[in-house]
Amino acid sequence: MDGFLAKLQGSLLLYILILYSQVNIIGALSPDGQALVSFRTNIVNSDGVLLQWRPEDPDPCGWKGVTCDPKSKRVTSLSLSNHRLSGSISSDIGKLENLQFLALYDNNLYGNIPPELGSCTKLQSLYLQGNYLSGVVPFEIGNLTELLNLDISSNSLGGNIPPSLEKLTRLQGFNVSTNFLVGAIPSDGILHKFAKDSFVGNRGLCGKQIEVTCKDDSGGSSNSNSDSGQNQNGKKKASGRVLTSAFATVGALLLVALMCFWGCHLYKKLGKMDRRGLIMDVGGGASVVMFHGDLPYTSKDIIKKFEYLTDEHIIGSGGFGTVYKLAMDDGNVFALKRILKLNEGFDRFFERELEILGSIKHRYLVNLRGYCNSPTSKLLIYDFLPGGSLDEALHGRSEQLDWDARLNIVMGAAKGLAYLHHDCSPRIIHRDIKSSNILLDGNLEARVSDFGLAKLLQDEESHITTIVAGTFGYLAPEYMQSGRATEKTDVYSFGVLVLEVLSGKRPTDASFIEKGFNIVGWLNFLVTECRQREIVDQHCEGVRAESLDALILVAIQCVSSNPDERPTMHRVVQVLESEVMTPCPSDFYDSSSE
Ligand SMILES: Nc1ncnc2c1ncn2[C@@H]1O[C@H](COP(=O)(O)OP(=O)(O)OP(=O)(O)O)[C@@H](O)[C@H]1O
Ligand SMILES: *[C@@H]1O[C@H](CO)[C@@H](O)[C@H](O)[C@H]1NC(C)=O
Ligand SMILES: *[C@@H]1O[C@H](CO)[C@@H](O)[C@H](O)[C@H]1NC(C)=O
Ligand SMILES: [Mg+2]
Repeated sequence: MDGFLAKLQGSLLLYILILYSQVNIIGALSPDGQALVSFRTNIVNSDGVLLQWRPEDPDPCGWKGVTCDPKSKRVTSLSLSNHRLSGSISSDIGKLENLQFLALYDNNLYGNIPPELGSCTKLQSLYLQGNYLSGVVPFEIGNLTELLNLDISSNSLGGNIPPSLEKLTRLQGFNVSTNFLVGAIPSDGILHKFAKDSFVGNRGLCGKQIEVTCKDDSGGSSNSNSDSGQNQNGKKKASGRVLTSAFATVGALLLVALMCFWGCHLYKKLGKMDRRGLIMDVGGGASVVMFHGDLPYTSKDIIKKFEYLTDEHIIGSGGFGTVYKLAMDDGNVFALKRILKLNEGFDRFFERELEILGSIKHRYLVNLRGYCNSPTSKLLIYDFLPGGSLDEALHGRSEQLDWDARLNIVMGAAKGLAYLHHDCSPRIIHRDIKSSNILLDGNLEARVSDFGLAKLLQDEESHITTIVAGTFGYLAPEYMQSGRATEKTDVYSFGVLVLEVLSGKRPTDASFIEKGFNIVGWLNFLVTECRQREIVDQHCEGVRAESLDALILVAIQCVSSNPDERPTMHRVVQVLESEVMTPCPSDFYDSSSE
């Protein structure tokens, strides 16, 4: 009987094996490909680079950004820097066992660095800098013994630098700058060879490398061979490490106390993050200031809501931080913008400016409701706009905006901006007009968001570097040169926005770049050939020739390289109302009575 069963089992197994291999021959996607599909699933937004990753392919070797070993067809490199990727990094990336090169830098990625990356043991280069990654640096990175380059700078990482990194003996490049790392920099192994500029911009670090003495005076030594626990997750590991090193350094009681403090701190932080979401830094002394006094919430009500916010509530991220959807018990919904990387020492200034912004109310502007002055991050509360951003509407969704919807959005954006420039007091230069800052309500009415924020959060020394990559195509030439924003630089950005709405393409779309242009260059080229109508999106329905011509004319004036030739926003609104929105009689009959 047993023998029979064993045979049955055996043949069943064989059968499954055959089936599996056949399926593979017919063309199911390879496991590496499946891991990449899972990677893509976690990316909620991008510039479109992942669109041609086709799951029907047998392997991912022809996909953009992917390189394979020619023989084994295993993925050896994934290179997707600077593609506006927004979302988290899938833990399935750990399944790419042959990965040698991973570059995801300069995107909008958030969430943790997946500890599973520790399984990619062939990895030689890991570039994740310039994102919004948070959580801790996984100690599993220490398993990547082939690693030559590790750059995780300019993120929001916290916790200690794990001593396991000391084992990366082949490391040549190392950068953890501008994060929120704390504690002693390990210095018993390879990390001692890196200097200040690998660690700058972490206020809580100490150690020989940065010439900051740790409070215990031991120069930041940590035990580098104490990393042998079997615990799977980082927090238990962290406290385990603390214990081992405590025993290893008998006598250094102070050190023990200090490290235990870190360990506990880390443990608490991690534990909280798991259970209570991201906004754990709304701690002692934080209070909420609401501007209009027309909402029935106390500071406490709102802060309590913050504690339940997790990654799942993220609706987007931009140059200044992450945006969460915040639903109150009475059904009101807000968008909460959590600003990271605040400059130091301008709280007063900040609050005064915010109050000015909060006092501005207009039909075509997104209402700033209030803010929370937590010690470690600033939280701005805006009305939630259910239609999302124009950027998503134009480039993300499959259903299309028709001509009338597009005109109406351009009109709303123009009116909102004209109000900022001419009618409100003090007058405000927006500085960051782009499609992701035009939000839509449930009826596809436009509202301008984030006005005044760019000025408030700008880094004085390096005006350009703080600008998000996504902003680039919208900037007026003289602004790029001088860094001086004026109403006319906004008008230029508005002109680019009109072109984006007309063409359905981002200002720096690949199809323009291929021809050696951006969207403005392309327009100017078409104008010289009298083909400017070709700029319009082929998928846009209901285009009316008369208003198209008038709108193109407005755009041409707005994106003039000479600021003096650009119209004011008041003028733009006038022209839009008289020449673009009101169709002439023949047009009118065409579109409605037939
Ligand atoms: N009030 C809001 N209502 C609904 N969605 C919002 C709101 N504010 C922001 N969002 C969403 O969050 C995304 C990110 O917004 P965020 O302002 O952080 O970045 P951005 O607009 O791309 O760049 P920037 O930081 O330059 O403004 C937006 O694209 C939009 O989809
Ligand atoms: C890291 O390496 C250790 C052995 O050196 C192993 O036990 C552990 O499972 C590895 N971790 C990962 C995530 O690969
Ligand atoms: C690390 O990155 C920061 C900016 O993110 C840069 O200023 C610094 O020079 C870099 N250091 C090294 C060693 O490359
Ligand atoms: Mg924005």
